[in-house]
Amino acid sequence: MRINDERKSIVDAVKVGLLGLGTVGGGTVNVLKRNVEEIARRAGRGIVITHAAARDLNKPRICDTDGITLTTDPMAVVNDSEVEIIIELIGGDGLAKDLVMAAIAQGKHVVTANKALIAKHGNEIFAAAQDKGVMVAFEAAVAGGIPIIKAIREGLAGNKIQWLAGIINGTGNFILTEMRDKGRDFDDVLKEAQELGYAEADPTFDVEGIDAAHKLTILASIAFGLPLQFEAAFTEGISKITREDVNFAEELGYRIKHLGISRRTDRGVELRVHPTLIPERRLIANVDGVMNAVLVMGDAVGPTLYYGAGAGDEPTASAVVADLVDVVRVLTTDPENRVPHLAFQPDALSDLPILSMDEVETAYYLRMQADDRPGVLADVTRILGDSGISIEAIIQKEPQPDSDKASIIMLTHTVLEKQMNQAISNIEALDSIHGEVTRIRMESLDAS
Ligand code: NDP
Ligand code: HSE
Repeated sequence: MRINDERKSIVDAVKVGLLGLGTVGGGTVNVLKRNVEEIARRAGRGIVITHAAARDLNKPRICDTDGITLTTDPMAVVNDSEVEIIIELIGGDGLAKDLVMAAIAQGKHVVTANKALIAKHGNEIFAAAQDKGVMVAFEAAVAGGIPIIKAIREGLAGNKIQWLAGIINGTGNFILTEMRDKGRDFDDVLKEAQELGYAEADPTFDVEGIDAAHKLTILASIAFGLPLQFEAAFTEGISKITREDVNFAEELGYRIKHLGISRRTDRGVELRVHPTLIPERRLIANVDGVMNAVLVMGDAVGPTLYYGAGAGDEPTASAVVADLVDVVRVLTTDPENRVPHLAFQPDALSDLPILSMDEVETAYYLRMQADDRPGVLADVTRILGDSGISIEAIIQKEPQPDSDKASIIMLTHTVLEKQMNQAISNIEALDSIHGEVTRIRMESLDAS
């Protein structure tokens, strides 16, 4: 940068208020400080955090806060007349919503990593932002450092998107990988994910699929041009996955991944998060640890896959800072000519319904404990046949030395979930079947 440019960028630096100095807030300060010149060259102006808020000002931080005015009152940061852009990194959808709405009301642009806030209140927030002509940028809310929002909203704007499927929770994928590869205990790995700053404040959001459902809701809206409808998402977590199922799946050539899947059909849009068997040869089946990946099928481009760190301080800060640069670049752009928040123009959103899980079609992995005697398998296959369910593969495992029950594992072809529900309840009613039938949904994720 030439000296004159450098002086100009300091004088004209955009002043930013940061709400939250935890994992992502700390990472954002570090990235902005370390790459200050590179970022100013990209944005056309310097960007400086002048004010920041946290709960406890005596807590040790991962970043150096020298030169930043600190407070425990985040609303004071929003209200400070010097501050032009607010970065919300507190989380949750209570206080965070009040802060974001207050910033918008004052005509300030907002950058946030808060997927819960956007998935639950995004329609209201974007309407307010539209009204005030300000931007609310949320790249960091989905898949950590992967620029997936920009890819779908801008890079794939020429496509009719058919479906997308992603590993979009780093904590969950980290837990599944460590359990599979190192035989570690669920609780032990979750504790490590929390220490590494990957997990949500309430980690049940990670393991029960709520966090992934927040992210999937956002992805589906920008892919298909729908209003955000988090309450219509189907969510199933990973806490019930057993080592047995992981091993049987591998024996059959599959991996179990916690996927968010959204597909456009003639009847509506599928919006579902659940453990899923996927063929082990798919690239996405080999995405391990805290890494995330999103597979997007566009009618023109075909399948595209986006991969990168799904959580953590600097990967997430990478997305926060990219949004900040975007906001600074468009500060002077006419609001009508900006990229729309949900990719499609606000008056062109679709009213396509979100399908209930009963109406979703998918294939299944089933595992059940059965008496080891003739006729049992025939009873089970008859029930499936009567429900119009065709079987792709069956394995029967001999009883363990301490048991008289055999494990039956089946893979089925695609069927409506409500037909499978009926078949499972008929199978569970058989005297020869013991306990619940384990059901894991299965997707081929092929290019058709
Ligand atoms: P942290 O818990 O690490 O940080 C939250 C910050 O908010 C802390 O600095 C905390 O202060 C501050 N805070 C909380 N309540 C108040 C309050 N009432 N007044 C002032 N400050 C407050 O969370 P993360 O950084 O992990 O997450 C932040 C957001 O980013 C969340 O929305 C999360 O979902 C999202 N996100 C997180 C990712 C990650 O990898 N961690 C990745 C992508 C998105 P104090 O430190 O003093 O307690
Ligand atoms: N808790 C989230 C995860 C953070 O583990 O994916 C990133 O959004």
